[in-house]
Amino acid sequence: MTFAMNILCIGAGYVGGPTMAMIAHKCPHCRVTVVDLNPERIAAWNSDELPIYEPGLDALVKATRGRNLFFSTEIEAGIRENDIIFVSVNTPTKSFGLGAGMAADLQYWEKTARQILEHSQSSKIVIEKSTLPVKTALAMERILNCRENGVHFDVLSNPEFLAEGTATRDLESPDRVLIGSREDARGLKARQTLVDIYAQWVPQERILTSNIWSSELSKLVANAFLAQRISSINAISALCEKADADVAEVAKAVGMDSRIGAKFLNASIGFGGSCFKKDILNLVYLCRHYGLDEVADYWESVVKINHYQQERFLRNMLDAMFNTLAGKKICLWGFAFKANTGDTRESPAIYIAHRLLEEHAEIVVSDPQALKNARLDLAGETGKISYVEDPSQAAKGCHAIALLTEWDLYRHLDFEKIYETMAQPAFLFDGRNLLDHRRCYDIGFNVYPVGKPPLTHF
Ligand code: UDX
Ligand code: ADP
Repeated sequence: MTFAMNILCIGAGYVGGPTMAMIAHKCPHCRVTVVDLNPERIAAWNSDELPIYEPGLDALVKATRGRNLFFSTEIEAGIRENDIIFVSVNTPTKSFGLGAGMAADLQYWEKTARQILEHSQSSKIVIEKSTLPVKTALAMERILNCRENGVHFDVLSNPEFLAEGTATRDLESPDRVLIGSREDARGLKARQTLVDIYAQWVPQERILTSNIWSSELSKLVANAFLAQRISSINAISALCEKADADVAEVAKAVGMDSRIGAKFLNASIGFGGSCFKKDILNLVYLCRHYGLDEVADYWESVVKINHYQQERFLRNMLDAMFNTLAGKKICLWGFAFKANTGDTRESPAIYIAHRLLEEHAEIVVSDPQALKNARLDLAGETGKISYVEDPSQAAKGCHAIALLTEWDLYRHLDFEKIYETMAQPAFLFDGRNLLDHRRCYDIGFNVYPVGKPPLTHF
C-alpha cells in the first residue's frame, strides 16, 4: 500500500510512542514509523504489553499497529525512507562538566542530528518534539545544513504538552498545538506541512504558529508556570499547618477568582515527573547564561520549595512518630510521580523512601503500576525494603501508611480492616489529601494531611 506521506519519529518513549499513535490514528493516509535504539523497548511496543502504562493507549496502538503505525530499530533505513522526521529522544539534565545539574544534556540530540545528516539522500523536515533549550534549533540547522549537496533540512519546533496519565485525551483534544519555524518562504512551507497534519483533527484556532525561538521558549515557560503554581500552594500549605487553616479551603477560595483559576492548586508532597524540574533548571541556566541572575533566582526558588516540601513531609512523619522511625515499618501507598502512570522519574516517593531508609525505617512499597520502576529506583539503597502490590496487604503490621500517589483505588479500601492489622498507634500521612480524613480518624488512625490540622487521638 502506498501512503501520501511518510513520517518517522526517532525515540519511542513516553512522548514519541503516544504522539505517533495518535497521528497514525487520525491520519490514515500517513505511514508512521517509530524507531528507537533500545531493542527491548521496540519489542515491547510490538507486543501485547506496551512499555508504558497510559490509559487508552493499548486500544489506540492495537487499532493502528501494522496498518499505518510501525515500530522498528532500523533507524538508518527510517531516515532514508521518510521525509518528515520527529525527534523525540531524551534530553536529561547534564550530569557532568559545565552546567552539570542544570543544563540539558544534548548528546543524544546531537547524535541524532548527525545520524539524520549521514543517512539522508533527500531534503527533509526535522521536527523538535523533545523539550530543548532555546536556540537548539539553530544548532540543529547548522549541523544538518553543513553540506553543499542539494539536500536541505527545515527545522521546526513542535513541543509536546501532553501530561502522563491523560496523554491520549490530551493528544486527541489539545488546548493548543504549537509550531515554530523560520519565517522565510521555506520555513513557512515546512510549517504548513505540519499544520496540515494536525488540522486532520485539531481545530484551526488551536493550532498556533510562531517563530521558532518563541516556540522553544514557550514549552519551558509553560512547565515553569505550572510548577510554580504547585510550589506556591505547597509553600502556603506549610503556613496553613502552623495557622490552623485548611489549604484545600484556601485553594478553593483563591482558585474561584477567574483571573487565577482552580487548576493545579492541589497541595502535595511536591511535583515529580521528567519535565518540571529539568525544564525549570534549564530556564534558570539560560537566565544565568544571559546574566539575568534575579530572574534565575526567582525560578530556582520553585525547585527549592519543591525539595523543601518533600523534606517537610518526612520531618512531619518523624515529629508525629515520637522523633524516631528506626525499626518502624512504613507502608508507601504509591510510588509513581502521579496517578495513572507507571512512571517514577523524579517521583517524590524516591526521595521520601531514601530519607525513611536513612532514618532506619523498614519500608513496604505498594503501587498498582510502578513496582518495576520502584525496584530499579531503590536498587542502590541499603535497608529493609519489600514490594507488595496489594495496598491492604502492604499495610499489614506497619506502624504508618504514607500515601504518596493519588491512585483512586486508595479511596475505596476497607480502612477498618486495614487499621486492625496495623501496629498501634496507627498513623496515616496523606501526602495527596486524597482520603476521607475524618472517617479514618473515627476508625482510630492518627491522620496527618498536607496543609491541614492533623487529627490525632493524643
Ligand atoms: C507536565 C505538564 O503538565 C505537561 O504539559 C508537559 O508536557 C509535561 O510535564 P506531567 O509531568 O506528565 O506533565 O504531569 P502533571 O500532571 O503536570 O503533574 C506533574 C507533577 O505535579 C506530578 O507529580 C503531580 O502529582 C504534581 N501536581 C500536579 C501537584 O502536586 N499538584 C497539582 O495541583 C498538580
Ligand atoms: P520522553 O519522556 O521525552 O519521551 P523517554 O526517555 O521516555 O523520554 O524516551 C526517549 C527515547 O529515546 C528512549 O526510548 C531512548 O532509548 C530513545 N533514544 C535516545 N537516543 C536515541 C537515538 N540516538 N536514537 C534513537 N533513539 C534514541
